[in-house]
Amino acid sequence: MTGVGIDAIELWTGKLRLDLPEEFAPAKGEDPEKYTKGLGMFSSSFPDAYEDIVTMGANAALRLMERKDIAPEDVGRIDVATESSWDKSKPISTYIAGALEQVFDGDFTHANKGERKFACIAGTQALDDAYNWIAAGRNRGRGALVVTTDTALYERGDAGEATQGAGAVAMYVSEDPDVLEFESSQGIGSLDETDFLKPNQQFPSVDGKRSVQVYLSRMREALEDFERNAGDTHPDEYRFIPFHTPFPSMVKKAARLGFRHMVRNTDLEDELAPAIGQQPREAEYTDWEDYEEDIQAYMDDLTETDRYREWYDRVVDPTVDISHEVGNWYTSSVHIARLSALKHALEEDVDLAGEKFLVGSYGSGAQAEIHEETIQPGWKEEISQNNVDEQLDARQDIDFAEYEQVHDHHNLKKANDLEPFTTPDGEFVFDGWGPMGERQ
Ligand code: CAA
Repeated sequence: MTGVGIDAIELWTGKLRLDLPEEFAPAKGEDPEKYTKGLGMFSSSFPDAYEDIVTMGANAALRLMERKDIAPEDVGRIDVATESSWDKSKPISTYIAGALEQVFDGDFTHANKGERKFACIAGTQALDDAYNWIAAGRNRGRGALVVTTDTALYERGDAGEATQGAGAVAMYVSEDPDVLEFESSQGIGSLDETDFLKPNQQFPSVDGKRSVQVYLSRMREALEDFERNAGDTHPDEYRFIPFHTPFPSMVKKAARLGFRHMVRNTDLEDELAPAIGQQPREAEYTDWEDYEEDIQAYMDDLTETDRYREWYDRVVDPTVDISHEVGNWYTSSVHIARLSALKHALEEDVDLAGEKFLVGSYGSGAQAEIHEETIQPGWKEEISQNNVDEQLDARQDIDFAEYEQVHDHHNLKKANDLEPFTTPDGEFVFDGWGPMGERQ
């Protein structure tokens, strides 16, 4: 079998933009720097009145299929990952397929469709399913369309409100892919948790502070599991490390944990030892709290070193460029982080072919997953055809009062009570329940 991986990527942002320091912070009576410096967020994307998870996902998929000249006949599988679904039976992939069938000659009758759910990690799980399906030889030469799509909205007044966002990513997974190949090694950290959940409710119940700790614990377990599987890692082995990004500062916490973990038992640990000592070893402690205290102190010293800062700026910081401007897109978030790194490399004219990415996905509830990807020679041509900046720049700014109307509209499901702020342009629009996807 030739390699399997991502052949093409497209993004679709919600078409409205809320500025956090200018609009959100004053309305909440907060210091703007809480958002810009504290969370690392400058603005969020929101869906206009005629957008929802189906239209955003279908629009991303349509762009991808038209650009890559992919016909329905070429697609053997459509999986949608979302935690914003309003249908508990019929998967969102069927709505998206129905919309796409209005545009293309041919249909998706032959395509296996499903919906993946495990909070934000579901998108990565859908990629996994696609990989396994192709690796098992069941694809009959076809590829898999994986769409991640969410309106990530919290109850007004919830601490999570500042991290909201809305958008979709479409990815085509195939043999001999242009962008990247998945490596087979994988690490998982998974435990029944209740830090973030939506049992029969519109908004998530979130224990925000705890969710941060749960993210880090599962990510540590996934790294340990990955190393049991793939052998010791080294921070310099990877050109970029995209993490799930609920907000960019969360990635700073994940990165320092990852760096500490990867440094252990390497030349780098010895190189840094004269300045900050050797890393505490859990086996040498009888009390877990003592170990935790010492390892946190070690990490504090580690992240103050020039070596760490240089590594973070080179390997992790470019992965949050898009997230700064769009907020949390839940299932899309780690895929935006990867795209952000690729886009950064394109802009810096870095040749990535043959380089490795280590990708850290996470979903509340809770599970983390780590895998490796190898970038392919066609990545540059593919990424140069994305129009991320144009889409972000084209968003319509809304003020805080308008944001509240948009928030009500999308959550109270009053389909026709809000005048759109923008005009659709050759795209699928939401026109009420029932057949969806009129192309304007
Ligand atoms: N200037 C600079 N920094 C400031 C500041 C200021 N004026 N004011 C506050 N800060 C800093 C704080 O010190 C804090 O930094 P640290 O995290 O390093 O301590 C940071 O800004 C955030 O401030 P608070 O902790 O006071 O913020 P908060 O309590 O209002 O909200 C949150 C933070 C709990 C994470 C909230 O955003 C939240 O609930 N988010 C939703 C849940 C979430 O995203 N969890 C992440 C892990 S779970 C996950 O990843 C799944 C998912 O997608 C949801």
